[in-house]
Amino acid sequence: MNMTRRAALRVLGTAAGAATAGAWAASEPAPSGLMMRLIPSSGEGLPAIGLGTWQTFDVGTGAAERAGISAVLSAFVEEGGRVLDSSPMYGRAETVAGDLMAEHSLRDRVFVATKVWTTGREAGVEQMEQSFRRLRVDRIDLLQVHNLVDVQTHLATLRRWQEAGRVRYVGVTHYTTAGQDAVARLIEREKVDFIQINYSVGEREAEQRLLPLARDRGVAVIVNRPFAGGDLFRRLRERPLPAWAAEIDCTSWAQLLLKFVISHPAVTCAIPATSRVAHLRDNMGAGRGRLPDAAMRQRIAAEAV
Ligand SMILES: NC(=O)c1ccc[n+]([C@@H]2O[C@H](COP(=O)([O-])OP(=O)(O)OC[C@H]3O[C@@H](n4cnc5c(N)ncnc54)[C@H](OP(=O)(O)O)[C@@H]3O)[C@@H](O)[C@H]2O)c1
Repeated sequence: MNMTRRAALRVLGTAAGAATAGAWAASEPAPSGLMMRLIPSSGEGLPAIGLGTWQTFDVGTGAAERAGISAVLSAFVEEGGRVLDSSPMYGRAETVAGDLMAEHSLRDRVFVATKVWTTGREAGVEQMEQSFRRLRVDRIDLLQVHNLVDVQTHLATLRRWQEAGRVRYVGVTHYTTAGQDAVARLIEREKVDFIQINYSVGEREAEQRLLPLARDRGVAVIVNRPFAGGDLFRRLRERPLPAWAAEIDCTSWAQLLLKFVISHPAVTCAIPATSRVAHLRDNMGAGRGRLPDAAMRQRIAAEAV
């Protein structure tokens, strides 16, 4: 087999991950019953529902201030979740995530994703080194260039670190529809393992070009803002859940919205954020049971916007 050193290291990383981090190498459900998706560049499986940290993990150092989000993280792992997405842009979120993972001995059960968000090689290296310290890890599962800021500079560093085994996967992110063309142009010319983009019933533009392109190029897709930052609930709060939600095992609007996202064939996982354990458990429920077909996806979109 003609395998590059990078690919070989990635597979080794996956094997090491499988031994230490509960990784799955097939698209069958994890023991938790959560749906799994394969990362195209490695074949490693990830649960289709992850957890974002923007705002929700940006809390103080006191036990009382952290109790709520600590319970959310514990419930997430207990439900079988793995992908935890942070960024140095999210205030204290990386530090809080690192402290809580250490406190609850969760490092080996979490797929740690963070970002670099600065300009210049030295500043990027410094910021990423800070992320290792804040997250209290010696290897980061996924390091992404946040909003494509100085993307070529950071990708060069990240490729070296990937070769060296300090990061397992490399990606780029954006959170606006306006940013999606630049993400598409990047994956047309560069090999990255992941993109992270906005997609929901309220923001469907990625269906036109970026999601099919990611699928063609073998790039994993993490979906941020699956509830459009929570805006979708403002419209849905007053509306009763349609009876047909039961046909795809949904008991809430949140589950319908998340199943819409993860049923797109290009999507690897969605990363809803929540500060509440009840919402976390609700969201994880979207990773179980039946998924909508094309007709049902249209029905969800028509009802929800
Ligand atoms: N790369 C980027 O530039 C970028 C940009 C934006 C976001 N992101 C990532 O994507 C993650 C998710 O995006 P987001 O935080 O902007 O928005 P989101 O996940 O679309 O929405 C979060 C909002 O939904 C509410 N919510 C969550 N679960 C719910 C449920 N089951 N029922 C009712 N309400 C629920 C939350 O409130 P409660 O706390 O009350 O549950 C919160 O207000 C971020 O945390 C971050 O990790 C990345």
